[in-house]
Amino acid sequence: MDPIISEKYHTAGTIAAYARDEGAKRIKPDVSLLEVVSFVESCITEKGASLAFPVNIAINDLAAHFTPKDTDDQVFQSGDVVKLDVGAHIDGYIADTAVTIEIESNRYESLLKASEEALEKAILLMKPGVSLSTIGGTVQDIIQRYGFKPIENLTGHSLNRYTLHAGLSIPSVASMGLRGRPKVGDVIAVEPFATTGSGRVISGNGSNIYLINSGLHLRHIRDQRTKQYLSRLKKLFQTLPFSYRWCLPHLTNADSVLQRMSHLGLIHHYPQLLEQNHGLVSQKEHTIIITNEGCEVTTYGTNEG
Ligand code: CO
Repeated sequence: MDPIISEKYHTAGTIAAYARDEGAKRIKPDVSLLEVVSFVESCITEKGASLAFPVNIAINDLAAHFTPKDTDDQVFQSGDVVKLDVGAHIDGYIADTAVTIEIESNRYESLLKASEEALEKAILLMKPGVSLSTIGGTVQDIIQRYGFKPIENLTGHSLNRYTLHAGLSIPSVASMGLRGRPKVGDVIAVEPFATTGSGRVISGNGSNIYLINSGLHLRHIRDQRTKQYLSRLKKLFQTLPFSYRWCLPHLTNADSVLQRMSHLGLIHHYPQLLEQNHGLVSQKEHTIIITNEGCEVTTYGTNEG
């Protein structure tokens, strides 16, 4: 990998890790989700990176995909199992990292340990040409040894410049028919999820996170107003996910505009991903770069790695 690009990935990683760890410290009873999300997002931009996606907070049986609206008044509660998923980029070179915190309790310590150890082992195995099914199988074994299930329909993913989900998927189970193997220079977000539930997620309500549909052309849109809105969103967010909150300074009636645009298929509104049997969910995630010998982790915090 070009050393300048590698440096950008590492800088994005250091900033994302710092924002993740500082954000995690602020997750306490009676603190609002909105406060933590705003803190983490400001932390990233103040350090000189850009937001690769809205900060995600997923509590208990919610596995992934949620960011609060500006009007959200939810607060954290003692005993909550909270996933904080953070994305930063420098010039399009993305770091994606997540951690799970159990608030004022150790009841699910082993659930947290399961996804943590699974991630550590997956990172040790990562190298050019490794079978992704072997990695998935190892993740599955570790999580099952702790007495939990891996979530089989959530996977890690490779990253490209300004692209959060590039070609490769990294499973948390041994699975057949996977395409591709990592090669030198690939950048991958590895993120095992462990659960006390059935091991599958289903779609719920809207996440307040959106993505512009890449396959569409402005010239095909007839309504001038809609065209204007869409070109504004494209300029602001390009190919990366964005939140309802981020639209507020740029759109009047953001609610109805976003609803109409997703109804027309111009943008995608991600659904919340809930554990099918309402099991609790833990997740840990790091971004890595595949090297000749193995991999480098870009998102280690000061006490990791
Ligand atoms: Co992530």
